[in-house]
Amino acid sequence: MRVLSGIQPSGPLHIGNYFGAIRQYVELQRGHDAYYFVADYHALTSVRAADRLRGYVFDVIVDLLALGLDPDVAALFVQSDVPETTELAWLLTTVTPMGWLEKCVSFKDKVQQGIPADHGLFAYPVLQAADILLYDADVVPVGQDQKQHLEVTRDIAERFNNVYGAVFKLPEPYILDAVAVVPGLDGRKMSKSYDNTIEIFDDPKTILKKCKKIVTDSRPVEEPKDPDTDNLFQLFTLFAPADEQAEVARRYRAGGIGYGEVKTRLAEHIAAWFAPARARRAEWAAHPGRVAEVRAAAAARARQAARIVLDRARRACGVG
Ligand code: TRP
Repeated sequence: MRVLSGIQPSGPLHIGNYFGAIRQYVELQRGHDAYYFVADYHALTSVRAADRLRGYVFDVIVDLLALGLDPDVAALFVQSDVPETTELAWLLTTVTPMGWLEKCVSFKDKVQQGIPADHGLFAYPVLQAADILLYDADVVPVGQDQKQHLEVTRDIAERFNNVYGAVFKLPEPYILDAVAVVPGLDGRKMSKSYDNTIEIFDDPKTILKKCKKIVTDSRPVEEPKDPDTDNLFQLFTLFAPADEQAEVARRYRAGGIGYGEVKTRLAEHIAAWFAPARARRAEWAAHPGRVAEVRAAAAARARQAARIVLDRARRACGVG
């Protein structure tokens, strides 16, 4: 079974990305033929500074290596190192009705906000379909927000197959579920666009500073609280051992909980949780030559797989 997913390089990864996606990528690399890539072509729809984009791409590779993706097991490559992607995207675009793309939320949101959308943003789901179909992916682990894109991918694959014969495998979405919803500092879903994130590789002092900003209940401290509806406690349960969770939950229910103390302990747990990864990250970042080797080897592996499918698609539709 081949597993494949992509991550946009658009800035440092946060703990929502970790629990929502990366942790599962690491688990899925064992027992699957795993392909993970940094979606830099996609990032061009929002990042428009070459050096910044290159920096983000490097950072994501190093972050993923540090967090446990094993380059001897998974192909960890960069989307644009496989330019076959863009050719397949064109072949797919010729069978994709405008209406399918007009209803995609990423595009619709912009239009609704009155922001003029580029063709790149409009065609974003076709490029994503190319990413997936190019590797005959069986399973595509993604967050809930990508569900629509996977449906479009399957629709495009079916349409192409109907027109030209059985060229593409239909991928199964693997929607990473609710473990996954990590609250941010303000209690909404942790997301870069809400500016409420704790970055995985923040230094411990910054982590503490951010934890201090977590919004807590405004009722008097003495009043008993329900830990299950408190976002500070939700974050705490992701990192603290079970006995500590039970102790803190008891004090929530009894009332008089000191949020400052919980925040400090949470910050310590987060820093400790990612400490081994932080050390590995520093090691990789200090050896960019090794990172480049990983990138090149993965690109060769990905390209070989891609070539087979692209040739099949070219033959089927009569180009080349
Ligand atoms: N659009 C995805 C996101 O923003 C990233 C992505 C690009 C992707 N290509 C993909 C995810 C292919 C899964 C498979 O998260």
